[in-house]
Amino acid sequence: MNDENKVLIFDTTLRDGEQAPGASMNEKEKLEIAFALERLKVDIIEAGFPVISKGDFDSVKAVAENIKDSIVCGLARCVKKDIDAAADSLKSANRKRIHVFLATSKIHMQHKLKKTPDEILQMAIEAVAYARNRVEDVEFSAEDASRSEKEFLYRVIEAVIKAGATTVNIPDTVGYGMPIEYGKLIADIKSNVSNINKAIISVHCHDDLGVAVANSLAAVRNGARQVECTINGIGERAGNASMEEIVMALRTRQDVYGCTTNIHTPDVCRVSRLVSKYTGFAVAPNKAIVGANAFRHEAGIHQDGMLKERSTYEIMRPEDVGFMETGLVLGKHSGRHALKDRLKGLGIELNDQELDKAFNRFKDIADKKKHVFDEDLLVIVEDDTKAFERTWELVSLKSISGTKIKTKVDVVLKSKGKIFKKSSTGDGPVDACYKAIDSITKNKGELLDYSIQSVTQGQDAMGEVTVKVKIDGKSVIAHGTSTDILEASAKAYINAVNKVISQQSTLKK
Ligand code: KIV
Ligand code: ZN
Repeated sequence: MNDENKVLIFDTTLRDGEQAPGASMNEKEKLEIAFALERLKVDIIEAGFPVISKGDFDSVKAVAENIKDSIVCGLARCVKKDIDAAADSLKSANRKRIHVFLATSKIHMQHKLKKTPDEILQMAIEAVAYARNRVEDVEFSAEDASRSEKEFLYRVIEAVIKAGATTVNIPDTVGYGMPIEYGKLIADIKSNVSNINKAIISVHCHDDLGVAVANSLAAVRNGARQVECTINGIGERAGNASMEEIVMALRTRQDVYGCTTNIHTPDVCRVSRLVSKYTGFAVAPNKAIVGANAFRHEAGIHQDGMLKERSTYEIMRPEDVGFMETGLVLGKHSGRHALKDRLKGLGIELNDQELDKAFNRFKDIADKKKHVFDEDLLVIVEDDTKAFERTWELVSLKSISGTKIKTKVDVVLKSKGKIFKKSSTGDGPVDACYKAIDSITKNKGELLDYSIQSVTQGQDAMGEVTVKVKIDGKSVIAHGTSTDILEASAKAYINAVNKVISQQSTLKK
């Protein structure tokens, strides 16, 4: 298959994805996701909107300094200060792109920008030319393209390509387009823009009417060769087109699209999990490709068919996206070597020090839990996230609670080698425990959200607690896991405190 049929994957999880209300991530989390995207072989990583804040600038800079294979991209409006911020943040990138955008629909030009079409055209040309002076690879997005007048859109696209744009993006910004008309829009651009062969046509679809993936695929069918998307489909409002769905649709239905991507699909589920963890957005069990039920067959007729011949009810193999069937893997008699081997099978390679830590945690879990599943191993490894410093650690917990007695929890924490103890009462064990942690760490946390999910099935399954906590005016999302749900709750809250301390010390530096 030649390169004309390669669809480039432009991941905007760290930019549009982060615009999802409540999805903000810190620099270290973004960097960890960027590494995961690079391993996934994403072609372009949109790392942020550098002019927006110092935090955004620093995150794009950190991604630019560390990512070597994927192109790192920064977003900018069509104004010099935005383009300069993007170029400065990308300075040390091995491969870099500036992405400028400007609305071309009447409704946006009149009401939002208060500019005439000619003024917009001029701004677009000047911005692209200015960006081209700073980097070779410039993308132009005609914001709200799907609601723009076609003749004007053609003029703008032709002019920005002439000014040096190497990719032209046709966003369905408000998720208004329908597959049949959006596909035709791409076909019309191909046949009405004289210099279109000098640029790659990109698409960027939002999911307000639930057709972002269908629109993106219709665009590919009509000649688009870059798709902008996010892991788990997160993004502004109803989100963006989901990367995993686009990639697997192109792969599974090559007969329809005749296109390939560079994505290393066995990493898909791991990246999905990482994004879910750092944004705090759980993946719905019925979500295509990465949902917990995506490959589970419940109906007897289906199970019977599967046993006779998998292809009766299975159009993709779970292993193609790194989806794990819950299978017994290790137990308390398994050694360090067995753990290392199993992790390797899951695509996780640890150095000796990391393996020691993971092995100690594995032993703790295996002591409490008869069967240790692949999902447990992933949690054990992820527990040692590098995203923040562990200033406070849980040493022990004791709780007395019941239906007619006042709940009391004793908490023992450790920090910098010192032990701290506190007993608190409260409205249930979690409340009492969080009060004790607040008192020891001298914080006043406001619990905004709390959820618990079982990592695997069975009564002895580990529970994963996710909390959203506001401390010192800053909201953070953190997780904790254990076979004991109060312990998991305490760990999640302590991790939230640690995250805030980590962020404060980064800001002071
Ligand atoms: O939805 C949109 O139009 C965007 C642009 C910045 C590409 O996110
Ligand atoms: Zn968008």
